Amino acid sequence: MEERELIELTGKQTQLIIELGEFAEILYWGNRVSGDTARCRPTLHRPIPYGRLDTDVSVTLSPELGRGIFSSPGLEGHRNGQDWSPVFTLKKVQKGQTLKENTLQGQTSQVLKGQTLYLESEDLLAGLRLSTEIHLDEYDVVKTRHQLTNIKSGAYQVNRLANTLPLPARAKELMTFYGRWVKEFQTERQPLLQGGYQQENRRGRTSHEHYPALIAGSQHFDELHGDVWGFHFAWSGNHRLRVDVKADGRRYMQAEVIYLPGEVTLEEGESLTTPWLYASYSDRGLNGMSQQFHAHVRHAICSPESTAQPRPVHLNTWEGIYFNHEPEYIMSMATQAAKLGVERFIIDDGWFKARRDDTAALGDWFLDENKYPDGLEPIIEHVNQLGMEFGLWFEPEMINKNSDLYRTHPDWLLALDGYEQPTGRNQYAIDLNNDDAFEYLYQRLSYFLSRYNIAYIKWDMNREIVQPGHQGRASSVRQTERFYALVDQIRSQFPHVSIESCASGGGRIDYEVLKRTDRFWPSDNNDALERQRIQRGMSYFFPPEVMGSHIGASHCHSTRRRHSIEFRGLTALFGHMGIELDPVKEDVAEKDNFARYVALHQSLRPLLHSGINWRIPTDDEAHQAQAVVAADQSEAVVLVAQLTMPTHALSGYLRIPGLDEQAIYRLSVLDKPSFYENIVHTQPQWTFSGCEVSGSWCREVGIALPILDPETAILIKLERLT
Ligand code: DGJ
Repeated sequence: MEERELIELTGKQTQLIIELGEFAEILYWGNRVSGDTARCRPTLHRPIPYGRLDTDVSVTLSPELGRGIFSSPGLEGHRNGQDWSPVFTLKKVQKGQTLKENTLQGQTSQVLKGQTLYLESEDLLAGLRLSTEIHLDEYDVVKTRHQLTNIKSGAYQVNRLANTLPLPARAKELMTFYGRWVKEFQTERQPLLQGGYQQENRRGRTSHEHYPALIAGSQHFDELHGDVWGFHFAWSGNHRLRVDVKADGRRYMQAEVIYLPGEVTLEEGESLTTPWLYASYSDRGLNGMSQQFHAHVRHAICSPESTAQPRPVHLNTWEGIYFNHEPEYIMSMATQAAKLGVERFIIDDGWFKARRDDTAALGDWFLDENKYPDGLEPIIEHVNQLGMEFGLWFEPEMINKNSDLYRTHPDWLLALDGYEQPTGRNQYAIDLNNDDAFEYLYQRLSYFLSRYNIAYIKWDMNREIVQPGHQGRASSVRQTERFYALVDQIRSQFPHVSIESCASGGGRIDYEVLKRTDRFWPSDNNDALERQRIQRGMSYFFPPEVMGSHIGASHCHSTRRRHSIEFRGLTALFGHMGIELDPVKEDVAEKDNFARYVALHQSLRPLLHSGINWRIPTDDEAHQAQAVVAADQSEAVVLVAQLTMPTHALSGYLRIPGLDEQAIYRLSVLDKPSFYENIVHTQPQWTFSGCEVSGSWCREVGIALPILDPETAILIKLERLT
């Protein structure tokens, strides 16, 4: 038998055991185990049944047809019909705390404390080298990617290159994500049956429909219990996620970019690198998994600049004035905003040349001098004098046919000659692979950021990509890469400028875009009830501070529902808070309330944006509860939202996890609906007078919930006394 080596990568609570021989196989991914791994290894030798191949076939980090894998391989490609079934042999292994800067040819990796394994395999017959990085960090998040290099003469056509991670057979259920515009991050549970699961996104952006993440778990896994394995594919373009259930019961997850026909051709010496696949295991249910991902996002994905300062409260003009821009009026909006405690004022779509509605002008990134005869300076100065930062909306990747840009450069469209593609919001995408177009966009953005005191860009992207053609060839991957390059170039020239990733709301939300931006616009839906569900779905992989959460008008623009200010205020409270309406038009009582929720958010912000998040299970699905507990467990806030009519006459007890079991906390209500006492005979006494309660009492026994009307919420505070 060939010689094999066992490598352990160890996180805080979890561990990977990887066996290296001719190939690499993850033997184990779970909680840390003690003992001599090599001595225990024989317990994992698999039997070889009759009726199959005569040898044991491993599920490797890149399963190979040539080794006898009959399910989805890790690589599919060919060299003019040859070299289509490569079998790689491991040649080089490097394990360390840090990676060399250029481990994967020019693409550096940000490395945290934790451990990294770098593997290099070759198939000299097929003329291919496959390099693999796998990293486990101190927050128990695994990340892995491959790089394929053509090391022989003749072009190699790559059809697929997937990241593969194994799942044990007890992963019997999935939680997947679906959605659409104004209804992002919806979740669905399904059994993981024979065959498996697959999702494909071909919309050219991360998409509202197929968010690139899924969670596998043991049967009936829930927020607090069960084994869960979460996966997030960090890529803002087309992707495929699949979980294969092999006929022998073993299973594995794959995440890959969908390459369009002929899109990836490697000439001799050229390489293709996959995006990172992030993954995390927890035996503490979904909360455990999310807490690990949140810690990773805070420490490894978000830039240090975006976490160093408190996230300023926004006022965004979009739902307040849409395309009706009038400088004097905008200044009066800013004056009102400052009085509410707003810290950053953003002018949304409608400020540039001839942009009167959504049919024209995208691409013409010049100030509309008819709307702004004195330029933007007076407004920005006014905003700054009021103590607020200023932000501006852009949609750099897009073009309307009714624009000077299109009239001058019709060839800058991302399209295929000879075809007429459907428009999306009356617009087309610009071919970012065209150097002149790319440079033009960079120069226009750079002009505004240099000329004006702009602290923030809302970077929008409002259509899906159809027929992404560059000189006749498919250019979908390149378009996404060039989008990253454009943001990176802006970011490196203007490191102090914060950027929001928005794509008709939540159409471009993923870890790769977050590495170069600071926050997301999760949805164009500001309806607090819908937002409760959307933010919940987003919370599985993202901490609240990267979710833009705005208080909208009482009459929601996207659903026509009406909500009280209390429900809107509390729903926006935990995220990166903002206000999305025209404050000039609001009455005094409403404005007092905006100011109240802004102040409440500001006072809780240090806790909300650094604490540990818990989605709290409730007995009645009509409730949705969440908590943020300080890292040192000294305090916590709990939000209970009454989504629909309570199912029963009594609302039961809420059991709050995450507190210090031994400590005594002062429990009090910070905010409650205006109709509270008079809707029942008596509400629980603790909601008026507060009480003292131990952490273990909260976890095991719980607190009686008040009876709430649908679409209202209550905010509870816990402060440690001893
Ligand atoms: C879509 C965004 O999601 C909205 O918030 C707004 O910025 C509009 N685009 C502007 O056109």
